[in-house]
Amino acid sequence: MINIDSRTHVRGESIYVNDIPLREDTLFGVVFASPLAHGKVKSIDFSEALQIDGVEGIISVKDIKGENQIGGIIQDEELFADKTVDYIGMPIALVCAKTERIAKKAVSRIKIDIEELHPIVTAREAYAAKKFIVPSRTFKIGDTESEWKSCAHIIEGQAEMGGQEHVYLETQGAYAYLTEDDGIKIHSSTQATKYVQRAAAKVLGMPMHKIEVDVNRIGGGFGGKEDQGTPWACMAALAAQTLRKPVKLVLSRAEDIKMTGKRHPYSFDFKLGLSKDLKIVCYEVQCFQNAGACADVSPAVMERTLFHGTASYFVPNARITVHSCKTNIPPNTAFRGFGAPQGMFVLEAALMKAAVTLGVDMMEIQKKNLLSEGDRFPYDQEAKNCNARKCWDTAWKTFGVEKLKKEVADFNQKNDLFKKGVSLYPLCFGISFTKTSLNQGRSLVHIYSDGTVSITTGVVEMGQGVNTKILQAAAQTLSISTRRFTIHSTNTSRIANPSPTAASSGADLNGKATIMACQALLARLKGVACQELKAQDPGDIEIKDEVIYHKGRKTELTWARLVFLTEEARVSLSEHAHYATPIIHFNKAMEKGHPFAYHVYGTAVTVVTVDCLRGTYNVDLVKIIHDFGSSMNLDIDIGQVEGALLQGIGLMTIEELLIDQTGKLVYDDLSSYKVPDIYFTPRTLEVKPLDSKPDPLALLGSKAVGEPPLMYGIGTYFAILKAMREFNPQLKLELWAPMTHQKCLMSLYDNYGDLLK
Ligand code: MTE
Ligand code: HPA
Ligand code: MOS
Repeated sequence: MINIDSRTHVRGESIYVNDIPLREDTLFGVVFASPLAHGKVKSIDFSEALQIDGVEGIISVKDIKGENQIGGIIQDEELFADKTVDYIGMPIALVCAKTERIAKKAVSRIKIDIEELHPIVTAREAYAAKKFIVPSRTFKIGDTESEWKSCAHIIEGQAEMGGQEHVYLETQGAYAYLTEDDGIKIHSSTQATKYVQRAAAKVLGMPMHKIEVDVNRIGGGFGGKEDQGTPWACMAALAAQTLRKPVKLVLSRAEDIKMTGKRHPYSFDFKLGLSKDLKIVCYEVQCFQNAGACADVSPAVMERTLFHGTASYFVPNARITVHSCKTNIPPNTAFRGFGAPQGMFVLEAALMKAAVTLGVDMMEIQKKNLLSEGDRFPYDQEAKNCNARKCWDTAWKTFGVEKLKKEVADFNQKNDLFKKGVSLYPLCFGISFTKTSLNQGRSLVHIYSDGTVSITTGVVEMGQGVNTKILQAAAQTLSISTRRFTIHSTNTSRIANPSPTAASSGADLNGKATIMACQALLARLKGVACQELKAQDPGDIEIKDEVIYHKGRKTELTWARLVFLTEEARVSLSEHAHYATPIIHFNKAMEKGHPFAYHVYGTAVTVVTVDCLRGTYNVDLVKIIHDFGSSMNLDIDIGQVEGALLQGIGLMTIEELLIDQTGKLVYDDLSSYKVPDIYFTPRTLEVKPLDSKPDPLALLGSKAVGEPPLMYGIGTYFAILKAMREFNPQLKLELWAPMTHQKCLMSLYDNYGDLLK
């Protein structure tokens, strides 16, 4: 089954917010944003901007009829800055004009007087100043306190992990216009129609039913539009309400990078205790999350860090704490992995430090501590159908790791300025929203009288191929041709209250709901077939490839005819179904439960070459054994693994979010903020499915794949570090990600003096 979007994508005919034909009198909005990271607003002067020909209005706090509040988890986020500004890029007003160019010019004429206050930029500064988004949380298992005594080796240290810019191809944007009787329709580039509808209702002072939010598809979200599609949609809607004209607001790349939040940078203090035979006995970590100026989804991200604090390893005694620290940078947000990469990186960093300190092979420590069947995570869930060791062993054998290691050692022996490193990275990622209540999906299926089918679900297509998977599930359930289907836009009038498309669970939740709807329709169709064929029991009826069978025998009745007869019989050909993941639960007071439907496993083998003269590196090879369960579409799924891997490699290597002391992003465009391109792609890239069981809670047994493979990128970091140590064994082990070329070069020659003697 090819991706159903490929046809319009290839022709350039897919419709994003910027492709929607404009209504008459459409105005264009450009945001006026704070130039300072922290301060009190003394005065704003719009007069000069308002005089420019073509400017039709400047929308700000004064125009809000409802509340100036768009916070989701916590009500702490203003749509427009009012009395204070809390980060550079914080929206203050929206200029609406006949063209975007005029609006931009007007923005440059706005005068603002701000009394500057001291900005807090890093998580550790905020921690010292006791500035938190929510109270800190700790996950515990066993008893670290008493068990440190039984450790043969104790390794302590600090680590850092930088943030990451989403770089979705389609920037943030929305188009809003009035409908009859003061209703509003919003086309939004969002992963969460519900959040946009809810926030717009609040800001506009309108009931939710008056607001229709529609998403045809989005040009990538990667988490960046789970919460942060909302402000732009609210601004466009507010401007449309105020000026009574359609308003379009699409951020330029520069505005998007400056104004929106990113992956959370984290700082860590860790302490790891190993037994004589290298088993992990104790692990403690303090994680300082840089949340930015308001909550956004940071409390949920914090939670996923806690859940993934022991990564793919069994740790009998652990204490994992996360502090969500409030700073004066844009509110950081969801990003593929959602806090898990940070929690997993710091443990890997601790293992690397242990290996270096003890002079043993890191792979030996990793392997000894992999999760086994029945092991408990700190949150009490058992590892069931645990494939951690199976993935590791399969990767080891299939990709000839023993031989690879030898080749790398030979290469390093023969070369002085080029050094290679090889790493393995074991993956374990929990599937389900960590907040149990979000784990619900919806689907509305209509069968038309000509036998064709329309499906609307709560899921947003953002390039991950979820609509193709939904269609496959429906076609398989009804046993009719895939050509009979159309998947329609995600729309709040057809699907109410959908969870965001996130947590990799969009296909599972909404695909399962689609199957339920199709099964209900099938039961009704079989009832009508029973009457038509004068059969006794609908259980004897089967539809196979558009033909109706009775007791296994082919009949004259076809799908199209049966649909026609069903309508004639006044039996409904429409169904709305709702799916809620069974089994899962979590008790936040105890921090224990069974939050995940299942876990996804895998192992990545990575080889890199570092040019030790220049500090540059190439990723030579990444080979992955990945646990797809039983993949329902291997092309799409392998595409997801490859894309996520590259995004993960970027996170760990060249993508650097540098913020200076004034709270300004230093690399704020795509010529200085580097994302992996085709030349940076591993020279050899191979993804092989693990021989795994279909999971009953996954759509058609096909495990969620959107986020987990991002974490394979962690392996690249450690392969580079190993290669660097081959060049300079005295290298100070600074566990700071990303390892940019610049940092690589600087640390290669750190403590190098001794080697030159
Ligand atoms: N793939 C593409 N092409 N574009 C995206 O924006 N987002 C990722 C992943 N894969 C994304 C993507 C993220 S962050 C998530 S949570 C999942 O897709 C969401 O979709 P799913 O639940 O259908 O897997
Ligand atoms: N993952 C991703 N997005 C989310 C989650 C989660 O667990 N919870 C809320 N939004
Ligand atoms: Mo994905 S970070 O859960 O949108």
